[in-house]
Amino acid sequence: MKQEYTFIVDRTPSYVRIQEELPSFAGICADFQGLNGAVGRVLLVCDTNTAAIARKILGKEERPRCVLPAGETAKTWASVEAILRAGQEAGLGRDGLFIGVGGGVVSDLTAFAASIYMRGASLCLVSTSLLGMVDAAVGGKTGFDLGGLKNLAGTFYPAPLIYMPLDSLVSLPPPEWKSGMGELIKTAILDDTGALLGQLRLLGSDPLDGMDPAGRERLFVAIAGSVGIKGRIVEADPRETGAERMRLNLGHTFAHALESAAGLGQVSHGEAVAWGLVCACELGYALGLTPLDRVEAIDGLLRDRSYETRVPHPFLTAPGKLEAFMRALDGDKKKKAGDLRFIVPLAKGVTAVSAKDIAADLVERIMRGEH
Ligand SMILES: NC(=O)c1ccc[n+]([C@@H]2O[C@H](COP(=O)([O-])OP(=O)(O)OC[C@H]3O[C@@H](n4cnc5c(N)ncnc54)[C@H](O)[C@@H]3O)[C@@H](O)[C@H]2O)c1
Repeated sequence: MKQEYTFIVDRTPSYVRIQEELPSFAGICADFQGLNGAVGRVLLVCDTNTAAIARKILGKEERPRCVLPAGETAKTWASVEAILRAGQEAGLGRDGLFIGVGGGVVSDLTAFAASIYMRGASLCLVSTSLLGMVDAAVGGKTGFDLGGLKNLAGTFYPAPLIYMPLDSLVSLPPPEWKSGMGELIKTAILDDTGALLGQLRLLGSDPLDGMDPAGRERLFVAIAGSVGIKGRIVEADPRETGAERMRLNLGHTFAHALESAAGLGQVSHGEAVAWGLVCACELGYALGLTPLDRVEAIDGLLRDRSYETRVPHPFLTAPGKLEAFMRALDGDKKKKAGDLRFIVPLAKGVTAVSAKDIAADLVERIMRGEH
């Protein structure tokens, strides 16, 4: 099984290869040469959990690696600096190639570091988590967390070459499958045709299902479908200046505030997104935009896969947490120049609602479970 896409993201061609096996180091260099010309010195960036995958990609090649601590708490400026310094020590010039091997954290950090290294070095991503494949690796957003806020600092730097090897998923821990599946469900809700939602219903919730030949093929089809949907949205509106890319934020306004209020790294991104989908449904229903059967279908899908669907989220019932959640929403508003928007599901597809157009206390009442 192999699926290739080329998306033009803000005039940069982004070549995505979804394939069974890990790419070899020589294969990456050959592909990169074919796309972008000569490859200079190379630095592999990974985390402690994906170091073994980076090792397999290298085979007998001895190349410098920068191994970061794993997880969201490592999505910091310190990690960016570690990558930049490792690039300098490895003698990377402007033609140097940064290869990020890991999930969304490694890809966001590596892409950010590449974007500022000597004002822009070459970049390749080998995405190793389900969430990284269906979301983080495609679309050009890079960044790191600052002051307790997710992705406060970042750049826009689409990777010209992205691999999504199914073999890398074999070592993915079950909670990370659940996290990735949250984003996959979000993308399926955006799909007006309903085809991806149909495919997801066929996927078992046990991650190992995905690794027998039939399950593996279904997983492959779902990943390829999701990448296709995200890629086309990003092509249409790369910098989120129009309404198109904003749709990808379905569930995210709530998810980011939950992640901040709970403490970064306490709730995985995809699980926060899954919970954010429930909140988006509740808001949409309260506004008369999301029909009840759509609310129930989304809620049922999430409950079947054991996502937290309770509102308020148990993390927000502890003293001070709801206030922290509302403050985080406010921080998001500042990031968006006062124009906070919520994306809510319609009978088919989704729509954006500006916070200015809804009662000021509606979101807080929903969060308290009072609506
Ligand atoms: N740039 C974007 O457009 C975009 C979109 C969505 C999410 N993101 C970002 O992505 C991040 C979440 O991505 P994530 O869930 O992949 O996080 P992650 O990179 O932290 O990976 C999750 C965990 O799984 C481990 N892991 C990854 N691949 C593995 C493998 N094959 N085998 C064993 N362990 C493996 C990691 O080491 C980590 O512990 C967040 O920081 C989020 O903001 C970015």
